[in-house]
Amino acid sequence: MNIPITKVLFGEEELRAVQIPLETGWVVQGPFVKQFEDEFNRQTGAAASIATSSCTTALHIAVAALGLKPGDEVIVPSFTWVATANVVEYMGATPVFCDIDTASFNLDTTILPSLVTERTVGIIPVHLFGGSAEMAAVMEVARRHKLWVVEDAACGFGTWYGGKHAGTFGEAGCFSFHPRKSITTGEGGMITTADPELERLSRSLRDHGASRSDHDRHNNRGSFLLSEYNVLGFNFRMTDIQGALGCAQLGRATTILDGRRERAARYDRLLSGLDWFRPQTIPAGSVHGYQAYVGLFAPEEPTLANVAGLNERRNALMEQLESQGIATRPGTHAPPFQGLYREKYGIRTEDFPAAAIAEQLSLALPLFPQMTDAEQDTVCEALVSAFAA
Ligand SMILES: Cc1ncc(COP(=O)(O)O)c(C=O)c1O
Repeated sequence: MNIPITKVLFGEEELRAVQIPLETGWVVQGPFVKQFEDEFNRQTGAAASIATSSCTTALHIAVAALGLKPGDEVIVPSFTWVATANVVEYMGATPVFCDIDTASFNLDTTILPSLVTERTVGIIPVHLFGGSAEMAAVMEVARRHKLWVVEDAACGFGTWYGGKHAGTFGEAGCFSFHPRKSITTGEGGMITTADPELERLSRSLRDHGASRSDHDRHNNRGSFLLSEYNVLGFNFRMTDIQGALGCAQLGRATTILDGRRERAARYDRLLSGLDWFRPQTIPAGSVHGYQAYVGLFAPEEPTLANVAGLNERRNALMEQLESQGIATRPGTHAPPFQGLYREKYGIRTEDFPAAAIAEQLSLALPLFPQMTDAEQDTVCEALVSAFAA
């Protein structure tokens, strides 16, 4: 049996959707990107959505639009994808890592306030694996210190907190449509915002700083005149082929998200007897989007003293599953321990103990909506026997 870590869910709708731009010839950002943005607003309750080429470029636009500059500090979690910190570096600003909570894998909001300095301008909380960050606490710190919040909701489509969708709490939210995410456009991203000026600037920044989009220009009189370029923008546009694919994916979003949640609930039941596997926890009043099903490998209480030994045991277990055709992965990595950050900022492992534990002991299991009971039983049985061995 071969059980991958995830599988995209495409059907006739997706095949037909990507054909239409090829038939009409309009393949750059156009009507389907607009339709994708409108439908994204409808499903998330966002006031405005701006599609981009990836979540990384969405985050880059958001921090640029908020005026991030050299000398500024931005607080980011110590356990996330490296892009969360990289976008701060792109602007010449400094990412200040905040350690996480190894139960939720998200920002430890008890540490957060202590990291605010006179240079801090913003916070980028992450909704890792589709589990919401503690947004009440994050927003309270932001309000108290007059900081902006850009939510890294790369994994957060289908994630809700207190009745509101992830990405709708801060000044902006940024989503990913990479194939590891619940819905995909190949590569792709989205910025959500309720601030009209941030929306206008984000639309312009994704398109070289243009004052009008090509689609708008071509559909109105005066299309022979070029836009004006008054700000330093990027080419971070989504193509209309991707936009069409995104529309088809949003059309089956309920099936995808319900399927993922059902599988996750079944894992919770099947694995509840394993005292060495601790599934990710989420805040009260939130709904998990299950971009991934991740837990902590903890046959004993992990500390910096025993984490290396436990890491060897986790990896042996992952290798055993791989030999049986079952894919597993670490949840993600700890950016402060990557060479770039470790060297630039002189970071030591003991600076972020929870990130070190999460990086070395997190374990993501296969999860996709079309997964069968038999496949899931195979994963669980393999886990039990690999651990016993
Ligand atoms: C938390 C987080 N932020 C940002 C990104 C970057 O997303 P993209 O690949 O769409 O640029 C990812 C992708 O894995 C992610 O997991």
